Amino acid sequence: MQRAQLLRDSFLNMDAFHKHIVIGTAITAGVALLYIRHRRRNKVQTIPIGEGWWGAGERIQSEDNNIYPFEVQTTDDEIKDLHERLDKSRYTDPLEDESFQYGFNSTYLKTVTSYWRHEFDWRKQVVLLNKYPHFKTKIEGIDVHFIHVRPVQKKNQKVLPLMLVHGWPGSFFEFYKILPLLTESNDNLTFEVICPSIPGYGFSEAPHKQGFNSLAAARIFLKLMERLGFSQFYLQGGDWGSLITTNMAQMKPLCVKGLHLNMFMIRKGFKVMMSLLIGSYLPFLVGLSREDVRRLFPFFEKTMWPILRETGYMHIQATKPDTVGCGVNNSPVGLAAYILEKFSTWTNLENIALVDGGLERKFSLDDLLTNVMIYWTTGCMVSSMRFYKENLGGDLDKRIDSRTRIFVPTGLAAFPGELAHTPKLWAQTKYHNIVSYTFMPQGGHFAAFEEPQLLANDLIQFVRKVEH
Ligand SMILES: *[C@@H]1O[C@H](CO)[C@@H](O)[C@H](O)[C@H]1NC(C)=O
Ligand SMILES: *[C@@H]1O[C@H](CO)[C@@H](O)[C@H](O)[C@H]1NC(C)=O
Repeated sequence: MQRAQLLRDSFLNMDAFHKHIVIGTAITAGVALLYIRHRRRNKVQTIPIGEGWWGAGERIQSEDNNIYPFEVQTTDDEIKDLHERLDKSRYTDPLEDESFQYGFNSTYLKTVTSYWRHEFDWRKQVVLLNKYPHFKTKIEGIDVHFIHVRPVQKKNQKVLPLMLVHGWPGSFFEFYKILPLLTESNDNLTFEVICPSIPGYGFSEAPHKQGFNSLAAARIFLKLMERLGFSQFYLQGGDWGSLITTNMAQMKPLCVKGLHLNMFMIRKGFKVMMSLLIGSYLPFLVGLSREDVRRLFPFFEKTMWPILRETGYMHIQATKPDTVGCGVNNSPVGLAAYILEKFSTWTNLENIALVDGGLERKFSLDDLLTNVMIYWTTGCMVSSMRFYKENLGGDLDKRIDSRTRIFVPTGLAAFPGELAHTPKLWAQTKYHNIVSYTFMPQGGHFAAFEEPQLLANDLIQFVRKVEH
């Protein structure tokens, strides 16, 4: 305290010339410090891959590295239990003139449940799920599930390994319509696809310990690719899959030939701020394209409000997942409403005004309920929600991956129905080697599930550019 006083007094007693020198030095030092900090922050180019153990109890020293074939199965008891619970469901009548504005319309929910109870054939869907070969292998103490689809190889075809990663509330099943487009083409280029379930999702075992975030998932998937003998591969992801595959590219950039994303959110930094401030008046000055402007503005209506309106679930899951999870894991109807509402609004924000949420415009009830059944039969809702807490419970901006730039060739597919638009200009602050950025003509958040052909086309043209 006294020392500060002393400093202040001696400063005040200086003549003007010396005051200028002191102020000048202080400013220079400040700027230099900021510059050094900036350099250091931006210096991180790869993330240390690290180690982890997520099994129950004590760490086991010698882990079983074998890969075991796996089949989805069901039993009469499982189906009988489901039907009993569906029969006992309670509903709250919707308000007058309400569609999906208050959440899932319960009148329409009754239609979905009735289809589920009387027409949906889970046994048939299990056969469909087993159309591709499934496997499980233990990594870091937990069973990791994946499907492995080898291409039907034709003459003179180049086969490229590719991993597809899903998100929430989806599953590996989201990719069932894009898989044939990637593995059965007559093109001179085809893919060998690995499609895992994120630990805690579907048939991958849930972590038993706290702290399992996207970095841990990325490490586990890198180990999976290594175990399968792939040293170089392509990655594709949306939702959590986008963050996980990005983390993989940050950990082992030399293994990743290309990274293709259909969701990428960059929401901070100088360019973002400038774009939002003057982008709608002088887009050319900040480097926004006409289409960027169309998708971002009016700011409140197109950028701010959708995020506010659609992310309440995220706050809950990032704080107390186990509480709400208890309800949705106990009631199949509650689970379906919780999951399928996302497939309505995230496909098209305007679906909120349709009496049936527009669900069957793009998806069949069979496909939608199959995804719900993957959550129901494995009981994975709570562990899938915990992934939000593990990733968003702290300050994501402070995490190492938000400071690590990505230099692997990147392809970005910007679908118009996605919750928030990210211009190429913003994406470039994180992804430094964007070889393809496409304004997709239609489709939303669940791109592979909703627009498999469009996503496949964009992925293939991106890979061609990288291979060229
Ligand atoms: C949703 O609820 C409203 C009641 O406000 C009803 O009029 C509408 O038809 C419902 N949707 C369906 C598909 O029944
Ligand atoms: C593969 O086919 C594409 C067009 O479908 C063509 O542009 C490319 O040159 C071909 N590559 C090779 C190696 O034949």
